[in-house]
Amino acid sequence: MAQLWGGRFTKKTDQLVYNFNASISFDQRFYAQDIKGSMAHVRMLAKQGILTDGEQHEILEGLQGILKDVDEGRLRITSEYEDIHSFVEATLIDRIGDAGKKLHTGRSRNDQVALDMKLYTRDEIKELDHLVKEMLEVLLTIMEAHLDTYMPGFTHLQKAQPITLSHHMGAYFEMFKRDHERLVDIKKRMNTCPLGSGALAGTTYPLDREYTAKLLEFDGPTLNSMDGVSDRDYIIELLSAMSTIMMHLSRFSEEVIIWNTNEYKFVEIDDAYSTGSSIMPQKKNPDIAELVRGKTGRVYGALQSFLTTMKGIPLAYNKDMQEDKEWVFDAIDTTKGCLALFTGMLKTMQFNKERMAESARHGFTNATDAADYLVNHGVPFRDAHGIVGKLVLICIDKKIALDDLPLEEYKAICPVFEEDIYEAISLKTCVNKRLTIGAPGYDAMKEVVGRSKDYLASYDDIMNE
Ligand code: ARG
Repeated sequence: MAQLWGGRFTKKTDQLVYNFNASISFDQRFYAQDIKGSMAHVRMLAKQGILTDGEQHEILEGLQGILKDVDEGRLRITSEYEDIHSFVEATLIDRIGDAGKKLHTGRSRNDQVALDMKLYTRDEIKELDHLVKEMLEVLLTIMEAHLDTYMPGFTHLQKAQPITLSHHMGAYFEMFKRDHERLVDIKKRMNTCPLGSGALAGTTYPLDREYTAKLLEFDGPTLNSMDGVSDRDYIIELLSAMSTIMMHLSRFSEEVIIWNTNEYKFVEIDDAYSTGSSIMPQKKNPDIAELVRGKTGRVYGALQSFLTTMKGIPLAYNKDMQEDKEWVFDAIDTTKGCLALFTGMLKTMQFNKERMAESARHGFTNATDAADYLVNHGVPFRDAHGIVGKLVLICIDKKIALDDLPLEEYKAICPVFEEDIYEAISLKTCVNKRLTIGAPGYDAMKEVVGRSKDYLASYDDIMNE
């Protein structure tokens, strides 16, 4: 039991209480951020004349040594300490003696942990964003390669109108683009430094908070010390953004699972990203997509859990806030893992162009275009709708596509039809006539691919702002 406090206590902490209270098992994850924060604090204390230059150098060297030793596995973080802050401070005092006891001057664990969590999540946001970018790159490659790969577009999971694979992937490109923008936005809003807020009411030392903020690459210090130690909004925003990423991945997973069924066979998942069955030798299962879909619940759970934790907490710091870590770490690991795995699966997946086109041809996805043909020949849309409905019924009965129905049968229902109906309802025509921006037509989609390329080209600039 190594604790930073105890002077006013007459009894030892009960072991169960100690265990219940301790956070070292999970907050050791941000030892590097804790040390980095301490180093900035020490530099500032010396600049302000609160520490001597000699003390500064001794402490900085000591902290650097601890960081290196933990990094390289020479120093183990053990449960003997209450939390990561106690571990670093106690180890420093062990190593350099009295100077180490000055590290915590003008600081509380409340502003320290608020800082550590911000530094840690800020690093993780960048990693998450990098993975989102990789996803966007894979999507763009597919979009470019499949501008004329026809497939059915669905509503209600019923074949609706023909689209292209490029267009379908483009929808996910837009979703992950918004995910990127959410991450950028969170980083922008959270980027203020709580260090110097003290326990809740600042300190009496002449700290230079602008200076520590700058050293730690924040836009400036937080402007209210009570909010500084107890703001966890950015964590909730991040959990929400990750939940949205997971929701997108889960929808995408569901589609891959459907496309991979024996009935659809739109895609072939690479062997490296599939799993087998212990009993059925023929099976090749889409476990990765299923796990991603399943793990979405974990991330939603973290969001719900932490929103609930925060809802009744009066100002300023309360120990409830220690609960901002385990679920959040799990949610970050889960979202990063799912993004990486899904992107790998997508990159190696084969698309069965023939099956997709056949499926579009046989699902009456061109029925709207047959009706539009009549409208273009002066038939009111509502009548055209009814006429084509009748033709569809005939085709269902004959088990053929609209493309295969002889012209006489068209004419028997409506004499307006001529030979050019077949051209008008071909998959190619149906798709390529849809040319408003955002539609699947070749030229419209090509324009979007170009804009998406520009978007990715300026991507890093956005994140580094
Ligand atoms: N382990 C604590 C946390 O994660 C550190 C802050 C402790 N502060 C306190 N006043 N007990 O929130």
